[in-house]
Amino acid sequence: MNRPVILKLVSVRRELELSRDIRQTILPGISLEIQEGEFISITGHSGSGKSTLLYIMGGLDKPTFGEVWLEGVNLTDKTEKEMSVIRNRKIGFIYQFHFLLPEFTAVENVGMPMMIGSRPKSEIRERAQMLLDRVGLSDRYDYRPSQLSGGQQQRVAVARALANNPKIVLGDEPTGNLDTKSGKQVYELFEEMNEVFNQTIIFVTHDEDFARRAKRRIHLVDGKIDSDSKTGS
Ligand SMILES: Nc1ncnc2c1ncn2[C@@H]1O[C@H](COP(=O)(O)OP(=O)(O)O)[C@@H](O)[C@H]1O
Ligand SMILES: [Mg+2]
Repeated sequence: MNRPVILKLVSVRRELELSRDIRQTILPGISLEIQEGEFISITGHSGSGKSTLLYIMGGLDKPTFGEVWLEGVNLTDKTEKEMSVIRNRKIGFIYQFHFLLPEFTAVENVGMPMMIGSRPKSEIRERAQMLLDRVGLSDRYDYRPSQLSGGQQQRVAVARALANNPKIVLGDEPTGNLDTKSGKQVYELFEEMNEVFNQTIIFVTHDEDFARRAKRRIHLVDGKIDSDSKTGS
């Protein structure tokens, strides 16, 4: 099946300047293409560059050299302000730690990314509730993060990442802090987002089962793609 390329990395290199004359190379040069609707797991040992790669894919970090293209647009020379608009509209990010705002309820946290622009409050609340329904939290709209379990908090974070119906959803070990059952629930939400809503999902995981269940699997060793394989269709 030939679907449009949604994300393209061209010779992406990421160096860190540790001091004036010491530079560390995290990613020596990664090129890859991701098509719309792919469901991809990224694995690799701690320190292999998984988070760095994901942050670059999501426009949260910039390569030292190389290019990142999102839907045919070169992100390389975008300003931070332009990037924040692009991220808000097109990318949903889920972290290992949920980063929910503790003072706000589940519905308010999920509605936060929708506050940009002039959408009516009632419409924002309605959509936030619909997203919480989708992650199985219909009975927790007005709970604060501290009143929710870890698994529930992470599901709120998933709902928040979906706020603006992003084309791409990126997860950096999104199930890493969850018990087996909650992790499975979050993973199955990803599958649903991919299968029902055709969202492109890319997630870093240490869970071998989840990694294997993805339709495409990228394995990193020392910042390089060690293997990149598609399963099934
Ligand atoms: N801000 C930083 N300062 C110094 N080293 C860093 C920084 N961020 C990442 N690194 C280094 O870059 C490498 C890759 O990190 P990372 O992308 O977080 O790997 P992973 O997510 O696979 O564990 C590691 O060796 C890490 O120590
Ligand atoms: Mg990491």
